[in-house]
Amino acid sequence: MSARHVFTVTVSRHCEEILARELRRMGLQRIVVEPGAVRFTGRLRDGLRACLWSRVGSRVLLRLGRFEAMSADALYAGVATLPWTDHIPPRGTLRVDFVGTSNAIRDERFGAQKVKDAIVDTIRRAAGVRPDVDREHPDITIHVHLRNNIVTVALDLSGAALHLRTPRRHAGAAPLKETLAAALLQLADWPRRAAAGDPLIDPLCGSGTIVLEAAGMAHDVAPGLVRERFGFTRWLGHDPGTWDELVAEAEERRRIGLDRPVAIEGLDIDESALVAARANAHQLGLASVRFSRQSLDDLRPSGTPPGLIVTNPPYGERLDDPAAAIELQRALGDVLRRHMLGWDAFVLVPLGPVSRALGLRPRARHPLFNGPIECRLLEVGIAATAPARLVPGHADTEGPPPTTAPSADDPDKY
Ligand SMILES: C[S@@+](CC[C@H](N)C(=O)[O-])C[C@H]1O[C@@H](n2cnc3c(N)ncnc32)[C@H](O)[C@@H]1O
Repeated sequence: MSARHVFTVTVSRHCEEILARELRRMGLQRIVVEPGAVRFTGRLRDGLRACLWSRVGSRVLLRLGRFEAMSADALYAGVATLPWTDHIPPRGTLRVDFVGTSNAIRDERFGAQKVKDAIVDTIRRAAGVRPDVDREHPDITIHVHLRNNIVTVALDLSGAALHLRTPRRHAGAAPLKETLAAALLQLADWPRRAAAGDPLIDPLCGSGTIVLEAAGMAHDVAPGLVRERFGFTRWLGHDPGTWDELVAEAEERRRIGLDRPVAIEGLDIDESALVAARANAHQLGLASVRFSRQSLDDLRPSGTPPGLIVTNPPYGERLDDPAAAIELQRALGDVLRRHMLGWDAFVLVPLGPVSRALGLRPRARHPLFNGPIECRLLEVGIAATAPARLVPGHADTEGPPPTTAPSADDPDKY
């Protein structure tokens, strides 16, 4: 199919520019950034490429129609004009995701119901049978967006959200979404630094999301390669030949990329988290990450030149103990400034006291959301040389005083 389509890739707030850069690197064109999404125009191949290669995007939507609807009847009528028998098998299953409201459609469930009615009635009139609704494992997911009385109807090419890319993922406590881990790594400039041979450590790696995403980037492994299902597989417009070509190209890139040496370490004090991390590495076919049981207090550079620390310490919101989260954050700040000289640290923290406990002045604070939790990715450059001890005989005999100023009293709140 060589027709041109409009695709919308949805993305977590604040990650739109990261996604736009990612899509540009894929060679995609006519890219437009919107709040929570990036649009591009291209052939079906381009949409499938985004499904296979986007690390940051949540869903890839193929636009089927767009029209004005001032009433529920107009919504029904607009949806009914679309050629549904080209998209959905008459005896297949579908789900409708409806986002947005208007004066006429005040409830998203009502909107979804109207759209579903219009689709199944249209197919029944044409084929004599109608598809069923299946909310869990539908053949086709239709995504409808309503804003300012304009309805955009799309096919969800991704199906389940794209962060669900590790088959049978083993989750530790409070795992990050893979898409957010990818955003952290892009903000840390990891792909360039990996190519330059820099090491990366997550000293609080949990089930390994950050380090495994880092390994996927460094080895050029398409994030969608191990995913078992996409939303287009049972779509009547699916072009398996094009998909197979893209997968073959990605497999070749992976074959070459897996030979690249990388220095990535995941550390955690909890053996059960490491068991999960190793199992995830196995599922993803990424064997190069070294996982070790180690307390944060013992973090050291292990003979490598300075590189990147990328991590998300426990928050307190999700893990029940805010005081312990603050204490751990303080310990992280201490070990970084004492031992990780010359390294760059990227620490994901929620707004509030935990973020201030690090005690290092960030050179940037990148706003992000971890699900509903508003966060900052603190970017800290640890000074390359430790200053001489200020207070001779100071009780702290383990290392020098801070190489960057404490930020607890920083008027610029995180
Ligand atoms: C928020 S979780 C990290 C989640 C991880 N990013 C993921 O996606 O699975 C924080 C991790 O810090 C670990 N941790 C807590 N205190 C630690 C310490 N003192 N030393 C090392 N690891 C610690 C916990 O075991 C937990 O796995």
